[in-house]
Amino acid sequence: MTTIVTGGAGFIGSNYIYHMLAAHPGERIVCLDKLTYAGNLSTLAAAMENPDFRFVKADICDRDAVERLFDEEKPDVVVNFAAESHVDRSIDDPGVFLRTNVMGTATLMDACRRHGVKRFHQVGTDEVYGDLPLDRPDLLFTEQTPIRASSPYSASKAGADLLALAYHRTYGLPVTVSRCSNNYGPYQFPEKLIPLMIANALADKPLPVYGEGLNVRDWLYVEDHCRAIDLIVRGGRVGEVYNIGGHNEMRNIDIVKLICRELGKPESLIAHVADRKGHDRRYAIDPTKIHGELGWLPETKFADGIRKTIRWYLDNRGWWETIVSGEYRHYYEKMYGNR
Ligand code: NAD
Ligand code: TYD
Repeated sequence: MTTIVTGGAGFIGSNYIYHMLAAHPGERIVCLDKLTYAGNLSTLAAAMENPDFRFVKADICDRDAVERLFDEEKPDVVVNFAAESHVDRSIDDPGVFLRTNVMGTATLMDACRRHGVKRFHQVGTDEVYGDLPLDRPDLLFTEQTPIRASSPYSASKAGADLLALAYHRTYGLPVTVSRCSNNYGPYQFPEKLIPLMIANALADKPLPVYGEGLNVRDWLYVEDHCRAIDLIVRGGRVGEVYNIGGHNEMRNIDIVKLICRELGKPESLIAHVADRKGHDRRYAIDPTKIHGELGWLPETKFADGIRKTIRWYLDNRGWWETIVSGEYRHYYEKMYGNR
């Protein structure tokens, strides 16, 4: 069996590749990645040693390159992680989000149709459901919750999900869609909340909390997400959406304080800065469907996952210090300089 994993040089895609190589030895994994600012080939260094693995640098929007790769590899399965993934960047410049997240997904699915791919899995986000009020803990996102995206990022991801389901209905493409809550773990780009706070705290730099820090996210350790996708690809019903999340709601401020405590840094580093435009208040997933149909449950408790994650950033300083000192510095200045 051959699986093409797009966006595999990014955070979740690379964790998925390592999960697949360990869980299904002998299966071929081909990573297609454009290596944008968020893609990092050094992340895949260990995979490169594995004869079952191949890396190809290409853009999912490039029809010719995608077609060539499908001709060469004749994939059975395509799992699409490739995306522009950061909400703040989408607020600054939406165009590339529409191109990659919507047009790129369509380009991949056109190739899947032509080549009779047996499963196209679209990796989606719970952010397509918009947000939930802070004072209604009883409300959770189910697969029936209406799509109500708030940011250009989530709107582009909603477009991709709808297109994937439309390709199933219209052309019979065997599609599944998953919508996961916020992930954390190794190899997450340090522009996202948890690695940004770890990197800043280690450098004794201010910890920029948007607004009061009362917004709530439902955190899932990345390995649990990867296991869920693997289960959906193998046993999920085509044309279906599966929500993935583990009932682990946390306020941003509490996460930042926890990171301070774990690293022995003072909370006086916390700096409340201007809020994000259109900032979603709360995300929370109801994972009843994936649990009932596929037996999935999260295995990593947040207390353990966050310690493992902090340990990983301490042990792999080279990986993120290269990023923090490079091109990313300009982004940081632009986003946080006058905030
Ligand atoms: P990431 O930004 O870390 O990685 C994205 C990867 O896609 C990078 O390697 C980048 O080089 C590649 N890429 C971008 N544009 C491309 C293009 N045009 N062609 C080929 N490759 C391209 O993102 P992530 O956090 O790993 O997220 C992966 C997927 O999971 C995304 O679709 C995202 O929407 C979804 N998701 C993320 C989270 C989360 O908490 N990070 C939660 C739910 C869903
Ligand atoms: P983020 O990691 O960007 O994920 P998402 O916006 O997709 O949920 O942000 C998580 C939460 O942390 C979100 O409520 C915004 C907040 N946040 C900050 O308070 N400060 C920061 O510097 C960043 C990057 C995020």
